[in-house]
Amino acid sequence: MSLPFADLTYNPFAEFWFSDSHGRSRLIRPLRPRDADAFSFFLSHLTEKTRHLFEPHPLSWAAGQQLALEADPSECLRLVLIDTQLPQQPILGYLVLQMGLRDYEIERFDRYGIEYDPHLCVSLAPVIAEGWRAQGLGAPLLKQGLHLCRELGRQAVILMGGVQDNNRMAVRFYLRHGFHRLDSFEWPQGVLNDDMIRWL
Ligand SMILES: CC(C)(COP(=O)(O)OP(=O)(O)OC[C@H]1O[C@@H](n2cnc3c(N)ncnc32)[C@H](O)[C@@H]1OP(=O)(O)O)[C@@H](O)C(=O)NCCC(=O)NCCS
Repeated sequence: MSLPFADLTYNPFAEFWFSDSHGRSRLIRPLRPRDADAFSFFLSHLTEKTRHLFEPHPLSWAAGQQLALEADPSECLRLVLIDTQLPQQPILGYLVLQMGLRDYEIERFDRYGIEYDPHLCVSLAPVIAEGWRAQGLGAPLLKQGLHLCRELGRQAVILMGGVQDNNRMAVRFYLRHGFHRLDSFEWPQGVLNDDMIRWL
């Protein structure tokens, strides 16, 4: 089955419903314009500690509004994990899937001597809200992202900005989900990040 980019935002095949470990109903689907307030709330309430680990773009209220209203999955697919049991449908998790690698990522990955097509790769970054981690929410969010990338004919996914070497929870999370560590790079000065790849 193929998923045309144009339809992805509202395509039911892009949705995934599941029950969490407490039996509560959760939904993973592409970000939609009507999520603007919930998404802005989610981004702007991430703590400093989380922002140090995850900042693929500004995490402000204004950025949340703009990204939700201008969602374009052909450029960047944004999956959100929603608590459907509460009336305001809060967002508990977010996965950015940038289609194609940026020049600075290609420059880094060219050094690794792997055969890959940067235009068929996806650069991703996940985050689960504080207080909701280690409860099995990140796994289905990542799996749905990998599933959609495969359906979209992508070859591999990499980590946006790598993963900080000392972010043990995230490093374990990626290795458990089939990522391979390639090498590390320093950015900014004094911070070591691991580049990883997951073939699809
Ligand atoms: C990395 C991240 C997205 C993972 O999401 P998560 O929801 O915590 O992931 P999961 O719950 O699926 O898995 C994490 C651990 O919880 C465990 N777990 C899953 N369900 C559980 C449950 N019901 N009870 C207890 N532990 C559970 C998993 O086994 C796993 O443990 P392991 O790594 O030792 O095997 C999340 O920790 C996060 O947002 N981190 C901060 C931002 C970040 O670092 N992003 C990555 C930037 S590169």
